[in-house]
Amino acid sequence: MPAKKIIIDTDPGQDDAIAILLALGSPDEIELLGITTVAGNVPLKLTQKNACIICELAGRPETLVFAGCDRPLSRPLVTAEHVHGKTGLDGPTLPNPQMEIKKQHGVDFIIETLRTEPSGTVTLCPLGPLTNIATALEKAPDIINRIAEIVLMGGAYFEVGNITPTAEFNIYVDPEAADIVFKSGIKIVVMPLDVTHKVLVTRPRNDAFRKIGSSVGVATAEMTDFFERFDKDKYGTAGAPLHDPCVIAYLIKPELFGGRYINVMIEKTSDLTLGMTVADWWGVTNRPANATFINDVDAPAFFDLLTERLSRL
Ligand code: RIB
Ligand code: CA
Repeated sequence: MPAKKIIIDTDPGQDDAIAILLALGSPDEIELLGITTVAGNVPLKLTQKNACIICELAGRPETLVFAGCDRPLSRPLVTAEHVHGKTGLDGPTLPNPQMEIKKQHGVDFIIETLRTEPSGTVTLCPLGPLTNIATALEKAPDIINRIAEIVLMGGAYFEVGNITPTAEFNIYVDPEAADIVFKSGIKIVVMPLDVTHKVLVTRPRNDAFRKIGSSVGVATAEMTDFFERFDKDKYGTAGAPLHDPCVIAYLIKPELFGGRYINVMIEKTSDLTLGMTVADWWGVTNRPANATFINDVDAPAFFDLLTERLSRL
């Protein structure tokens, strides 16, 4: 099976960072064409820098990293330093990157890549607000039919919200962008909080990262040590939920995951429920299905995969 060609669109963020490491540690399954960064967990200046820090940590300074949109389509930016720290990568002490951010805008890289790669061969992997993806679809509608699929982290149904009582952060930051993506007709697989809250970095799992002994293993343990605080305080969980790595693990071993093909719509107007992913899990409407909504995962196998791939870097 040839490696899947992907573009990771991301707002690092410790969990984004681990998703990037998982992708870079899996060259047989993943051909990472480039990383486009977006404002989200922290402002764009930091997310673009953090993406480079992680590529150098992985020993892959040749990875193409682009800066994308620095704010949502039509709202002020909301960030999440309370979860990820001031830098967005709090936890380990990592050196400032030497590698250069590419000059091309991330949105233009997405468009150009989709126009030049054979149609249906490129998968988009958004791990943050969907601003770059929606901007690309609006700017170049011709790419819509060329995208193999979009596998994204975002939304929630049974788990409801993590940034408001009803909304998950990535969707909440740019609901207009999410609405464009979910109405695009593109094949979409969603990794919502319903599944990401089942992959928690418990102490033994954190110890396994540290036991790898490499700078990647130790940094991963330190990143998850830091960003578990928010979820432990809020939900009383046993460790940090690895939201974004679910996207990459799904590309490598989809059999670890389960869900339903359902209708998902985005709340864009109500102040009370702005950014909610209204998932018709029980099929109570006649709205056509538009997304595979994942709610289950084999967590031990997920961590075995992740730990083994991190050990390769
Ligand atoms: O709600 C979790 C999502 O928001 C993750 O992608 C995390 O990195 C933040 O972007
Ligand atoms: Ca993210």
